Amino acid sequence: MKIINTIKNTKEYLKNIRLQNLSIGFVPTMGALHEGHLELIRKAKNENDFVVCSIFVNPIQFNNREDLEKYPGILENDISELEKTGCDLLFSPSVKEMYPAPVKTKYDFGDLEKVMEGKHRPGHFNGVAIVVKKLFEIIKPDKSYFGEKDYQQLVIIQALVKKYNIPVEIVPCATVREPDGLAKSSRNKRLTPEERKIAPVIYQILKEVKNKAGKTPINELNKWVEQQINNYKGMKLEYFEIVNKKTLQPIESWENKDCIVCIALFLGKVRLIDNIILF
Ligand code: PAF
Repeated sequence: MKIINTIKNTKEYLKNIRLQNLSIGFVPTMGALHEGHLELIRKAKNENDFVVCSIFVNPIQFNNREDLEKYPGILENDISELEKTGCDLLFSPSVKEMYPAPVKTKYDFGDLEKVMEGKHRPGHFNGVAIVVKKLFEIIKPDKSYFGEKDYQQLVIIQALVKKYNIPVEIVPCATVREPDGLAKSSRNKRLTPEERKIAPVIYQILKEVKNKAGKTPINELNKWVEQQINNYKGMKLEYFEIVNKKTLQPIESWENKDCIVCIALFLGKVRLIDNIILF
């Protein structure tokens, strides 16, 4: 696997790949790779001739300093996992390389960013949009792969691509889970053994919500989820929303048949998110 740290060399290298008429699949990441990321790489490998992965811990998408400081750095392990999975090129720039000067761009995603993650992490999606647009301009991929675990991010990236006519196909990929149901996440490593034991409850609650969907009134379901979370010491609900899959706006009745349930909570000091598609 080729590893490149500069934008100029990456562009040159990929120009040559394109001249050979090879299709490029791209997986943007912030490192600390787990099975969820590797699934994206595998899918990219199946669908393209050449696979690029980026590892860049994007400081401007962290609204919380502690979260950024605690984010694991590039691990030797990431490189060996990428090699084993068949990634062809790793682009791993420094912050200075990506942002030689402060970036002031402001994106407006309207109501899509006013709910859930956007509401609780001000500026987060602006930082994500800035880095992803820049990465797309550098890599110019044919297809790019995003996990459905970060569902709101996926919808916002789709909106970004549409708004700026970026010629890339966004490929959504199903959430990869531990055998006990916990969604794979780089943050899981920060859970204490006790917290890790209770974390699968999140997916159990989501599955039960799916069972109750369409039968239990929405406000009762909201209360039920709150009660369930409160039963567990150390768990603190940040939001639980049943929203339309496309608009991300909360649904008011079960007549809306196109919806997804999204949840964010703290387990001790670790913030976890998950979701389940209802219908
Ligand atoms: O999902 C992530 O890991 C990040 O938000 C992304 C898409 C790599 C942008 O920094």
